[in-house]
Amino acid sequence: MNIIDVMSTRRNIKVFKPDVIKDELINKWLQTASLAPNHRMTEPWEIYVIGKETRAKLNHKTNFGDAPFLMAVVSRNGATVVETEENVVATACFIQNFNLAAWAEGVGTFWSSVGITPKNKQILGVTDDSTILGVLGVGYPKVVPDPKPRTPIQNKITSLP
Ligand SMILES: Cc1cc2nc3c(=O)[nH]c(=O)nc-3n(C[C@H](O)[C@H](O)[C@H](O)COP(=O)(O)O)c2cc1C
Repeated sequence: MNIIDVMSTRRNIKVFKPDVIKDELINKWLQTASLAPNHRMTEPWEIYVIGKETRAKLNHKTNFGDAPFLMAVVSRNGATVVETEENVVATACFIQNFNLAAWAEGVGTFWSSVGITPKNKQILGVTDDSTILGVLGVGYPKVVPDPKPRTPIQNKITSLP
């Protein structure tokens, strides 16, 4: 698949096959994701690989679609409000890079915001100097949903003089 096809066919996956993903693949996609743009090379992303015990505590209603691999992606806050915002943006780029790298090799992700509650932040051991951008279930998709309609981009463009 070329990059446009990867971006066009990617979906947020809600149900996964049980097949385990090799560590080397996860590591490759994480390494690729870390090529994401980030201002002043802060590389603000941190990855928390979530094991069985912690996963059970999160008590997610669908158990993240039974994804065989689960991780939280966290953005370290910066020294200023602007730096913190920039770090969040860079970490979002990191996540989408990961999503696309995995999708290009047939693996989907379930991006969940379950980590944003104070209780779940505590369960994940993430301190107040960081922001959880997502808990990501990763696995081979059992079902690939249809695309969700998007607003024509022309409706989003403002042309300035
Ligand atoms: C920051 C963020 C948080 C999200 N949190 C959730 C979530 O908690 N539960 C969920 O089902 N999907 C979540 N999603 C996925 C979106 O629902 C999904 O991307 C959207 O419905 C469009 O579908 P698509 O990604 O398949 O095109 C999240 C996406 C983002 C970017």
